[in-house]
Amino acid sequence: MIISINKAIELLNSNDIVALPTETVYGLAGRIDSDSALKKIFQCKRRPLFDPLIVHVKDVSDAIKYSTSWNPLEIYLATKFWPGPLTIIKEKNNSISELITAGLNKVAIRSPDHSIFQEILKSTQCPLAAPSANIFKSTSPTSSQHVLDEFKCEIPVVEGGNCNVGIESTVIEIFIDVNSNYLIHIYRPGIIGPKQIQNALQNTEWYNVPIEYKPSPVSPGQLQEHYRTKKPLEVVLVDSLSTLEKYYHLNNDCLVPKLSTDVHIAARELYGNLRLADKRCSNTQFLTLYFFHELWNHPDWYPLKERLLKAASTIKNLK
Ligand code: TXA
Ligand code: MG
Repeated sequence: MIISINKAIELLNSNDIVALPTETVYGLAGRIDSDSALKKIFQCKRRPLFDPLIVHVKDVSDAIKYSTSWNPLEIYLATKFWPGPLTIIKEKNNSISELITAGLNKVAIRSPDHSIFQEILKSTQCPLAAPSANIFKSTSPTSSQHVLDEFKCEIPVVEGGNCNVGIESTVIEIFIDVNSNYLIHIYRPGIIGPKQIQNALQNTEWYNVPIEYKPSPVSPGQLQEHYRTKKPLEVVLVDSLSTLEKYYHLNNDCLVPKLSTDVHIAARELYGNLRLADKRCSNTQFLTLYFFHELWNHPDWYPLKERLLKAASTIKNLK
């Protein structure tokens, strides 16, 4: 059911949950001070309680209220990229329920870049916890229709158009080693990658801080099986369309519509195209998505590759 912004605020303030648009994917939101709303998020998504949630705040000054000791580099990056698709892991303070962090002493925080989400945060005056608005392990939603299609229980959704980024935020944690040197770990790749972070650090004292992809040492939330379509997905790596044509019919309903060769547009298309093929493929076998080798191995495309490695049940290499 599509609801107005005012209705969403009313529901949130009465301990209910609503699906809201962000620039990355739609989120299933509840007030962080409402344990009953937080529990509903986990129940509705069928998400295990060990998988921690992201807290969405208005801005940096809000973020500082819900966690302890932000160092200058964290403040700098948050100021540079927020509102936007960057999530920062911080020590939590007592205002953050353990339901949100799955018992961990750290919390994931970001400020979403969507006017509707921001308007709602200004009104609730309370941050909102929000995982992607999909059933646990399934493809993330990038439109209100995706959310409506996803849940059997009636989830109220605020219409916010198609998500502009299209894949989830980059998740990072910043460490300081024994020699007081900073280190940035990226736990979940996203559109803000090492290159974008490095650019932001140019001409600052942090210009040579190492930035590395690392799986999160504590969060069991980053499971191998994720973003899954209903029918099993086969990813086929090819050098050209003519290679693909030797083995597949290109006007096959189970073939995922072609992604753009521009990474920002492809990120926006990815989940929608997977969902479209999943819906229209009447054949009960599997979906096929093809990807060019050149892009598959390109660092700018790593965030999409990471999603597909988790979404696919098979990866096939065609020469
Ligand atoms: O773009 C996004 O981040 C979207 C929109 C709705 O904001 N949200 C989203 O939430 O993707 P979710 O729950 O689907 O993913 C949260 C990710 C998981 O990979 C989880 O493991 C990680 O954040 N995470 C949350 N809290 C963490 C913590 N304390 N330590 C390490 N990782 C954490
Ligand atoms: Mg998710």
